[in-house]
Amino acid sequence: MYRTHTCGELRLSNAGASVTLAGWVQRTRRMGGMTFADLRDRYGITQLVFSEEADSSLNEAAQKLGREYVIQVTGQVRERESKNKNLPTGEIEIVVKELRVLNESVTPPFTIEDETDGGDDLRMKYRYLDLRRQVVRKNLELRHEMAFKVRKYLSERNFLEIETPVLIGSTPEGARDFVVPSRMNPGQFYALPQSPQTLKQLLMVAGMDRYFQIVKCFRDEDLRADRQPEFTQIDCEMSFIEQEDILEVFEGLMKSLFADLRGIEMKEQFQRMTWADAMKYYGSDKPDLRFGMPFVEVMDIMQGHGFSVFDGAKYVGGICAKGAATYTRKQLDQLTDYVKRPQIGAKGLVYARVEADGNVKSSVDKFYDQATLQQLKAKMGAEAGDLILLMSGDDAMKTRKQLCELRLEMGNQLGLRDKNKFACLWVVDFPMYEWSEEEGRLMAMHHPFTSPKLEDVPMLDTDPASVRANAYDMVINGVEVGGGSIRIHDAQLQAKIFKILGFTPEKAQEQFGFLMNAFKYGAPPHGGLAFGLDRLVSLFAGLDSIRDCIAFPKNNSGRDVMLDAPAALDQKQLDELMLVSTAKKD
Ligand code: AMO
Repeated sequence: MYRTHTCGELRLSNAGASVTLAGWVQRTRRMGGMTFADLRDRYGITQLVFSEEADSSLNEAAQKLGREYVIQVTGQVRERESKNKNLPTGEIEIVVKELRVLNESVTPPFTIEDETDGGDDLRMKYRYLDLRRQVVRKNLELRHEMAFKVRKYLSERNFLEIETPVLIGSTPEGARDFVVPSRMNPGQFYALPQSPQTLKQLLMVAGMDRYFQIVKCFRDEDLRADRQPEFTQIDCEMSFIEQEDILEVFEGLMKSLFADLRGIEMKEQFQRMTWADAMKYYGSDKPDLRFGMPFVEVMDIMQGHGFSVFDGAKYVGGICAKGAATYTRKQLDQLTDYVKRPQIGAKGLVYARVEADGNVKSSVDKFYDQATLQQLKAKMGAEAGDLILLMSGDDAMKTRKQLCELRLEMGNQLGLRDKNKFACLWVVDFPMYEWSEEEGRLMAMHHPFTSPKLEDVPMLDTDPASVRANAYDMVINGVEVGGGSIRIHDAQLQAKIFKILGFTPEKAQEQFGFLMNAFKYGAPPHGGLAFGLDRLVSLFAGLDSIRDCIAFPKNNSGRDVMLDAPAALDQKQLDELMLVSTAKKD
């Protein structure tokens, strides 16, 4: 038997017991005639003591232990003299009687402790060592717990977990596909699924009624802190339901996850907001509602006073930052620079402080008398001590997006984005289409299988850009954690939607024929959604990047630096696949 206990298990009640432990030596230190070692495994850390007096050769052996040696020890549990309150095993130590080195280790490239000296790249290259650190490992534990609870919740509600293939065909309309050449079909390629969307719809046609899958998805898109080229969805679909049923089941799932994994009971129904309101009041389809600060439009008050920046604008609006009138000129200049950065691209920022006596002092005082500024104050809901920040622009949507960045930054600066506070929201009634500058045509905002709102169907012919969809996103703390829709289950309507998206009947048949044909055989009304598991775990764990809850993530250039992938293929493989690379060798 390698061990009787794990390194996280022993307590004062075990004092006197003879035990055997196995694990990694985190560090050793000498004190007088004693050597102490911290022994680590997945479950925790236990202090070992070797005494010169009791056994000098054993103590000598202990002094030779290097970091990350794998050892097995047998000894007696005893109460510690100086206890460590931060460690669950901190009240005891093991007086070692036998030591066996199971494996030596070369010096690791960084210290494997919660606080490490290893930079990001180094830790990714030696990710197997990084994963030995408790701070990283506990994210994977949470991920496991979450997947387990999701399976339990959905299984209890009749959902079947069904695997769908990973080698499928390319479907346009989303991000770029990752493709895989087929040796047996020269010149032809599989695509890896961006999501199992069409397959889960076919499972509904197949009568599976309720499906889910915790599934890898692949998208060749630019990476950000909340995006990886391969990520995991909790993908779900249901038949014979309406939007309301879906919102209820999955709001229930989220509440149960919060209760089980964070000990947070959410009794109230999640807030709901239309996409139009989210854009109008927060300039984003995923507003962070941990704090208020909604936008207030003030064209009526601020235009027509000779301030040309506002007078010529299509949108003038702003936010009221409670208690921020103390902002210094320097801070306000920094805020102005912040919104002028090329990533945000605003032209400038106008501010107005509400002073203790209620008077308003603004950066554009020469254009506005106190009576007008008082009107502004009233409309913004501002009081003494508040700071009003205004922006303007010739494109309302663009200006709102810039204002959104300002609002989030103010939320950060005022400490309103607490990682232990959670604001859950459904954004509903997304538009069916959005205009793509790149493609010069309308594109499906969610995907081409999303159904239009019944009352908007007549507008499909006259004003498709205004048609709203039965589509919804779940947003938590400004992160889109999931999204879905009620699908089209009528082959004719689907054909019409493809037409609006610019597909000829032949092209639609070629690309989506399998789905449209299936719909001819009695497709039930159906809909669903998919959550991003990585995003959920990182939100629950308070992480800044989803990379931290993925065992072996890719870096920002899409590389796995540990495996050194992607990499060139050797000529034999290329020949077999009949592939010729035109990439220039560096
Ligand atoms: P959607 O494209 O909105 O919908 O994706 C669903 C959820 O998956 C997560 N997600 C990602 N997570 C990490 N890295 C990425 N690159 C990434 N892309 C998406 C997000 C997102 O909300 N088939 C539809 C769902 C449906 O209609 O049922 C779909 O894939 O959390």
